[in-house]
This record gives sequence, C-alpha cells and structure tokens, in this order.
Amino acid sequence: MKETRVLTGITTTGTPHLGNYAGAIKPAIEASRDLNNKSFYFLADLHALIKNQNPSEVHRSSLEVAATWLALGLDTDNSYFYRQSDIPEIPELTWILSCLTAKGLMNRAHAYKAAVAENIDQKANDPDKGITMGLFSYPVLMAADILMFKADIVPVGKDQIQHLEMARDIAMRFNHIYREIFTLPQAQTDENAAVLKGLDGRKMSKSYNNTIPLFVPEKKLKKLINKITTNSQPPEEPKETKDCTLFEIYSAFAAKDQIKDIEKRYSEGIGWGEMKSILFELLNDHLKDARKDYEYLIENPSIVEETLKKGALKAREEAVPMLEKIKDAVGLKSLV
Ligand code: ADP
Ligand code: TRP
Repeated sequence: MKETRVLTGITTTGTPHLGNYAGAIKPAIEASRDLNNKSFYFLADLHALIKNQNPSEVHRSSLEVAATWLALGLDTDNSYFYRQSDIPEIPELTWILSCLTAKGLMNRAHAYKAAVAENIDQKANDPDKGITMGLFSYPVLMAADILMFKADIVPVGKDQIQHLEMARDIAMRFNHIYREIFTLPQAQTDENAAVLKGLDGRKMSKSYNNTIPLFVPEKKLKKLINKITTNSQPPEEPKETKDCTLFEIYSAFAAKDQIKDIEKRYSEGIGWGEMKSILFELLNDHLKDARKDYEYLIENPSIVEETLKKGALKAREEAVPMLEKIKDAVGLKSLV
C-alpha cells in the first residue's frame, strides 16, 4: 500500500499556546506516529516574514516553535521536520508557479480581500495601501510548500481551506500546461479538535493577546489560569459547562472519566476558584515533563539547530530531484 503523505506548515510568529496545542500540534504529533503516513512538518519562516518584520522575534519564534514540537515528542526519525528557509528549492518553485498562477485567483484570497476591505473601510486613497507582494502572493508560496513534497493530505485550520483549493488549482494548471507532475492535495480539517477560548473568552489567539503559552513556568501558568474570565455566579450555584472556557480547556486535556466527574461537579455547583485550581493541576501534570525538555532545548539551541539541519538534508533529498523534474518540464535544463 502506498503511504499517505501528510504535510503541514507552522508559521513562526509568536509563542505556541494551549489552543495551538489542542487544535494543531497534538493531532499532528499523533499522526507522525502512524507508520502508514509519511509526515512532513516544517517551520514556515518565509511565511512569517509577511506578518513580522522584527528579526529577533522571527528568529526567537523559530526556536520556540521547533523546541515545542520536539519537547512534545515529535518522532523526527519517522517524519520530516525542517525549516522552510533551509530548502532553497521552495522559493525557486514559487517563482515557477507564480508564472502560471492567475492574478485573478490571488485577488480572491481571503487575507488579501480582508486587507483591501479594511483599507476601503478606513477610506484610504489606495485600496492596496500597506499590502505587500508577500501577503498578496502568500498562497503561491504555500502551494510550493505542498506540491514540492507531493502531499496527499494537508491538515489545516478552516481559514486555510481556500489556500488548499488554490494549491490544487495551480497544480492542475501546471499538469495541464506541462505534464502530470503534481499530486493534487486535499485539505483535512479536524472537526473534533477543540477550539479553545482564551483569557477574555474570545478564541485563544496571538492576535487577541489572550493566550496561555504552552510552556510558561508553573507560577505563571497558575497566574494566567486565575485570569480567565468567569461569570459572577456564587460557588454553590449549579453551573453550565457549555461555553465555559475553564471547562473547555479542561476537556481538551482530561480523560473521559475525569470530564464526567467535572460535569457532575458543575451540576452540583463548583466555585470558580476551585475549578481554576483543578484546571491548573491537570495542565501542570500534563505539561511539566515536556516543559523541562522545552526549557532545556531553549537553553541549548544547538540541539534544535542540528535537528533542523538534519531534517533539511532529508527534505532536500526529495526537493532537489523534484525541482529538477519540474525545471526540465518547463524547459529550464542543460543545453546539451
Ligand atoms: P493564532 O490565532 O494564535 O495566530 P495560528 O493562526 O498561528 O494561531 O494557528 C496555528 C494552528 O493552531 C492552526 O492550525 C489553528 O487552527 C490552531 N489554533 C489556533 N488557535 C486555536 C484555538 N484557540 N483553538 C484550537 N486551535 C487553534
Ligand atoms: N499558511 C499556514 C497558516 O498560516 C501555514 C502554512 C504555510 C502551511 N505553508 C503551509 C500550512 C503548507 C499547510 C501547508 O497556518
């Protein structure tokens, strides 16, 4: 049986948080252990430049994201784990794909459209004000990431589905104009993956500044959990689990019987203070060993660097011949 190629990129902006873990990292690490899969996970640091022009932040985030995945037990022997900017074949392919991507297709990309809508809203003279070519052609770079490694399945959040459709579109166009080289990728969204709310009750997101970073020190974790917004119900009053941030986070980490017990406690009335301590204990138990490994890796970046370099060598064993084939197909080849 042909193995399934699973590929996903992690943009290196900011520090990974509990929501990233529950929604993306945990399912991906589980998939990396499935021997029927060939998994490709990479730090999308070229994509990070679109959102962040602070070099030390971009640099730091690569270390934090890589250390997070390694500390959580990503099986790097059974998967490809690399940094996008270590694979020069990716930007080269991006150019080739740009030359057959319709500009109109990019005009329809959500992120670009949202930026234009915002400018129009603000009554800017130019609807493209402040919009870089990086933001505009972001989906082409993403298509190159995916098509280079012949990915079958691409696990992503719902906001990325359109980009996957674009990658398929670009692949079909190439296959039609030149020859059948690219595999058509399929987006995979995990309906069961929890979407966690943050400190203020909105979706936990770096953009809202309401996150609980995965590996903050114990004391800080306790402090942040205490900051989670709750309603003003008194302790003894029965409570709803639905839409409760504390309960949602608890459920993303707890075993089934633990969740049942807590549901019962809610229906009998549980104080928010007590629930916060229970949540802290659960998270801390879950994270403390990985946190030690994470801290060690952050202190010893050369270990992370070496892992990424090894990953890049392995990834380039795929990317170099693939690009060769693509260049040959478009007519970029030796004269003799
Ligand atoms: P952020 O919103 O913090 O910038 P990203 O957009 O970088 O997060 O998301 C990276 C991955 O983590 C995506 O797969 C996304 O679906 C997932 N993710 C982000 N926030 C959450 C959340 N609150 N709950 C569950 N999954 C999330
Ligand atoms: N654009 C994705 C995001 O913001 C990250 C990403 C870059 C990606 N390249 C990719 C995801 C390729 C999947 C496949 O989440």
